[in-house]
Amino acid sequence: MPEKTTQATNAIEVVEHDLDYIVANLDGVLDELAGRHLLIIGGAGFLGYYLTQSIVHFNKSASKPVKMTVYDNFIRGVPAWLTTLSKEPFVSVDTFDVVDPLTSTQGQFDYIIHAASIASPTFYRQYPIETMDANVTGIRNVLEYARTQNKAGLPLGGILFYSTSEIYGDPDPANIPTAETYRGNVSCTGPRACYDESKRYGETLCVNFATQHDVPVRIARPFNNYGPGLKIDDARVLPDFCRDMLNQRDIVMYSDGTPTRTFCYIADAIVGYFRILLLGKNGESYNIGTESPEISMRVLADTVVSVAEDLFDYKGKVVMQTSSDNEYLIDNPNRRCPDITKARTQLKYNPAIDIDTGLRNTLLWYAENREQD
Ligand SMILES: NC(=O)c1ccc[n+]([C@@H]2O[C@H](COP(=O)([O-])OP(=O)(O)OC[C@H]3O[C@@H](n4cnc5c(N)ncnc54)[C@H](O)[C@@H]3O)[C@@H](O)[C@H]2O)c1
Repeated sequence: MPEKTTQATNAIEVVEHDLDYIVANLDGVLDELAGRHLLIIGGAGFLGYYLTQSIVHFNKSASKPVKMTVYDNFIRGVPAWLTTLSKEPFVSVDTFDVVDPLTSTQGQFDYIIHAASIASPTFYRQYPIETMDANVTGIRNVLEYARTQNKAGLPLGGILFYSTSEIYGDPDPANIPTAETYRGNVSCTGPRACYDESKRYGETLCVNFATQHDVPVRIARPFNNYGPGLKIDDARVLPDFCRDMLNQRDIVMYSDGTPTRTFCYIADAIVGYFRILLLGKNGESYNIGTESPEISMRVLADTVVSVAEDLFDYKGKVVMQTSSDNEYLIDNPNRRCPDITKARTQLKYNPAIDIDTGLRNTLLWYAENREQD
């Protein structure tokens, strides 16, 4: 059984409990990183927050510390937590665009996580070319680095490429819950195609560098993560609801409330990502998310209201509006729910944090971290 997290009462406790939970549930898996050099590209983003903090936390008790380099081009801004991170021992933070070649003069990296891609539909539609470049040229650069290191007799231990559940598009009902074997139902020209199709091609690059050049690359397909680190202005559904709530106004829903998702709290997801990096098979993809509950946007909004009533005496309600963004709902999948059997069986990935606890932690964190509100 996974370790349980105890209930936090403020943002600092939320993060501390989550990091304890992550390291405990990795159950020695991170030991492989001890004394090695980890590069995280796109490390200033939402997932970057807990990926980097987990390593800092692990270093406090590691036999040998992990050396960590964090690169980002900061296209989505510089988060407040980055200043503190850059002062940590064994950590360096630099501006770097993954579209530029990665060479051994920058460092001898033993492990690389490629998380460099805007993930919010609102923002990747504003930067479609940059999004495609990050997921195609960017992963190609990482794979070429690994190929060069192989030739130099300095093979990497592992690479993690972040793909997405969006590569499945809008799955037909027979393929929900969706397993890794489903090939997808995706538009190659719609407003989301810059993201979905570049992730698909990025995966194809990974598979072929694994088979042709023995590059130890593994792929994550995240399904709707949420929690601390997700910018409140990121225009994803949960931060939007939380922002409304924290401003003591009604929660606005820009759909009829019927699309459904499962939501995976960040601490569970991060355990999954490190398990893929360190235990996954080369050239293989793994769904990371939770199978249940699959809830509608309406139920999600109502749950935010009830958790907020309890925590902050929130008095608002849920209202429906039409978005001023005409493309907001185009190609938005009706249902999204993963089959995580592969990660459960091969990686011992076992998400356990329920939605009420996750939302409670998220609201507590946002209450003290309302950047660009
Ligand atoms: N969070 C989720 O639920 C989710 C779901 C599916 C896929 N993903 C994938 O996981 C990865 C991380 O997601 P996230 O939620 O942290 O996204 P995010 O948008 O919060 O962070 C992405 C980070 O990458 C940086 N970046 C973008 N382009 C870059 C480039 N060319 N070079 C260097 N840095 C660049 C951004 O500045 C940002 O800091 C992305 O690849 C995303 O597509 C996330």
